[in-house]
Amino acid sequence: MIYFDNAASTWPKPEGVGEAMLEAVKEYGANPGRGGHQLSLKASRVVFQTRAALAKLFGIKDPTNIVFFSNATVALNQVIKGFRWQEGDHVISTTYEHNSVRRPLEFIHREYGVQVSYIEPDHNGHIPLDEVEKLIHSKTKLIVCTHVSNLTGSILPVTEIGHLAKQHQVPFLVDASQSAGSIPIHISEMNIDLLAFPGHKGLYGPQGTGGLYISPDIDLLPLVHGGTGSQSESIDQPTVRPDRYESGTVNTPGIAGWKAGLDFVMQEGIDTIWEHERSLTQYALQELKKIEQVIIYGPDEEVERAPVIPINIKGMDAQECSFILDQHFGIATRAGMHCTPLGHQAIQTIESGAVRISFGYFNTLEEIDQLIVAVKEISKSVATT
Ligand SMILES: Cc1ncc(COP(=O)(O)O)c(C=O)c1O
Repeated sequence: MIYFDNAASTWPKPEGVGEAMLEAVKEYGANPGRGGHQLSLKASRVVFQTRAALAKLFGIKDPTNIVFFSNATVALNQVIKGFRWQEGDHVISTTYEHNSVRRPLEFIHREYGVQVSYIEPDHNGHIPLDEVEKLIHSKTKLIVCTHVSNLTGSILPVTEIGHLAKQHQVPFLVDASQSAGSIPIHISEMNIDLLAFPGHKGLYGPQGTGGLYISPDIDLLPLVHGGTGSQSESIDQPTVRPDRYESGTVNTPGIAGWKAGLDFVMQEGIDTIWEHERSLTQYALQELKKIEQVIIYGPDEEVERAPVIPINIKGMDAQECSFILDQHFGIATRAGMHCTPLGHQAIQTIESGAVRISFGYFNTLEEIDQLIVAVKEISKSVATT
């Protein structure tokens, strides 16, 4: 099987991820932070080490400002629903957001009367910063921006937006779902106050992992209330982090596996990972471009993009194309709508959807050659029918 669906979840995982998960289940499957015995302490240590590794990766001083969730969606919901919204408050976002941002934003609009402005980046991911600045006013309480579009791979100017947000003292939330592990992220250099990231994509952890960095200057209302193993006598949620936002038992086996994934990312180095993914993307673009019936969406060829390429074959339904790639050629892609209706509107694929090809560190140029052979054959069959 050739796996080109890494934007959904990376696969395969590096050596050590599965083993670490198994070890957590078999050797020390106790509850972290809930007991003083050796197994519980061992579990707590592994959870802490993963927090510390993430803090190092993102330039976060205090790992306790990182909270674990089951995916990036919960992290994004925690932020967007965690502000103390008042009618007339204002949020700035973009049309390239995933539904994990858009739907909670629409929820707070309906529920609390929060106004949301969506800026439309161009196909290269460029956003005129003066347009963002013009939108900021006294009621603007949050700016939310994805780092990379999950549909087109366009890279958005988060550093510049972060700078603007800081100037105007507006909290800045970055959705790093498609960039964490592929593109360097440093929260203070990029003026990021809130960073949501999945474990199961570019950070090579297992599914069921994700996290959120919350600046110590921001106090969110917890999304979930419950047992934390701390201040148990109090009926209120603790103020201490990460407990304030991390009720209930965490996914210790998943977090242990994630640590192995993070170790791999740090050992290889993000620059090396990016270079490899970039060369795969450039090669695929160059070869796909030669096939007449193929429509490629997203940034211009000379503009950097993350390893995500949405395509369509003229005259063929995206679902059908992805199905044939899977069933006849053993190539996994994702077809249809990619949880970003405004993004599809922008690239005019709201009716057709698109076949999304996305690369990870374990893909090779030879696999892309096989994709090209398959796409050529499918295109030929469409042309002759
Ligand atoms: C840009 C973006 N944001 C958020 C998400 C949601 O991530 P998760 O599946 O970890 O909740 C995704 C997943 O594809 C994504 O691509």
